[in-house]
Amino acid sequence: MSKPRIVLAYSGGLDTSVAIQWMREHKDVEVVACAVDVGQGVDDLDEIRQRGLDCGAVESVVVDARDEFATEFIQPALKANAMYMGKYPLVSALSRPLIVKHLVRVARETGAAGVAHGCTGKGNDQVRFEVGTMCLAPDLDTIAPIREWGLTRDAAIDWANERGIPIPVKSKSSPYSIDENAWGRTAECGILEDPWAAPPEDVFERTVSVKDAPDAPEELVVAFEHGVPVTLDGERLPLAELVAQLDARAGAHGVGRIDMIEDRLVGIKSREIYECPGAIALLTAHRDLEDLCLEQELAEHKRSEEGRYAQLIYNGLWWGPLKKALDAFMDEANRYVNGEVRLELFKGHATVVGRRSADSGLYQYEMATYDAEDQFDQSLAEGFVKLWGLPLKTWAARATQQGDRL
Ligand code: ARG
Repeated sequence: MSKPRIVLAYSGGLDTSVAIQWMREHKDVEVVACAVDVGQGVDDLDEIRQRGLDCGAVESVVVDARDEFATEFIQPALKANAMYMGKYPLVSALSRPLIVKHLVRVARETGAAGVAHGCTGKGNDQVRFEVGTMCLAPDLDTIAPIREWGLTRDAAIDWANERGIPIPVKSKSSPYSIDENAWGRTAECGILEDPWAAPPEDVFERTVSVKDAPDAPEELVVAFEHGVPVTLDGERLPLAELVAQLDARAGAHGVGRIDMIEDRLVGIKSREIYECPGAIALLTAHRDLEDLCLEQELAEHKRSEEGRYAQLIYNGLWWGPLKKALDAFMDEANRYVNGEVRLELFKGHATVVGRRSADSGLYQYEMATYDAEDQFDQSLAEGFVKLWGLPLKTWAARATQQGDRL
């Protein structure tokens, strides 16, 4: 009788490489390694596929999910201007639900009994993987070998060496824990765990230091249709390509470094370093175009929903009904977000220096101008101000009468 199969979310890194053999020994299962390309910039997926087999998987698959990640995950997050704690563009939180979707698909195709991930018990990613699996395939078991095993990095390397597992470590002291995809790069651990210590330059890969950024600014134009970026400097590009190009250009000017103390769902405060040049540039541009195109009440309400939206994605509730309902709202809100934004990249900043919309903007020159073309009827303001202030005037009169100081 053959052993049950488990599909492991495989990155090709140390933890998931040793997890393959550990599950074989401790869970008596066969392991299918599944690596999902979400734009993490590994050149050789075939090498990762082969490494999965070399580390003991019975089958190893790689999935090119770059376009899907852009259109199904980055796009809604951008429409919602999603930033957890107002700072973090949800890099890892966005990729987890997509990875779960493919794990479940591969589990079905290979007749697997469960899925596995390489997360520890201290982070958010375990929640995202497991809640996602509970939604998409509640019948599948989840194994969390790293959480269960609790090995240190050095012990894992020794354990692998004893068994001759070809682990992908350059040195025992590789100091950071990295996660990466098209929307950005995350770094934790090592010296970064001291929130007082400035991040060393070797943490960064996608951004240059502002000190080394070019002395000349670079300008670019992004055009949006219904809140979705569609062209970069006039060239129509698939979203994944547009994000990648913008990421490289903004990163070259040092845009998108984020250093923050973050509230994890599991109750821990952690120090996180992010590099999100493309995300920060696009979020900046998108928000600005919304200011041009959204009616006031809608704009204000949308801002109040954005934080909630980011929080539920951060907290692993991607597949739930509130996410779906908020997406419908965000889609409707973005209906008239059409136009172009001029961005200037310079010394760590992506600054909006111009915006326009051929048919969707609500800016009206003849209303705004102080010049001769002014068509705003200032006589209407007099009555408006009187009525607007009436409740306060009434209240203030009573308060004064009763001896209150205003
Ligand atoms: N703190 C971030 C989050 O929860 C980044 C997590 C990075 N994940 C990792 N396995 N290194 O979204």
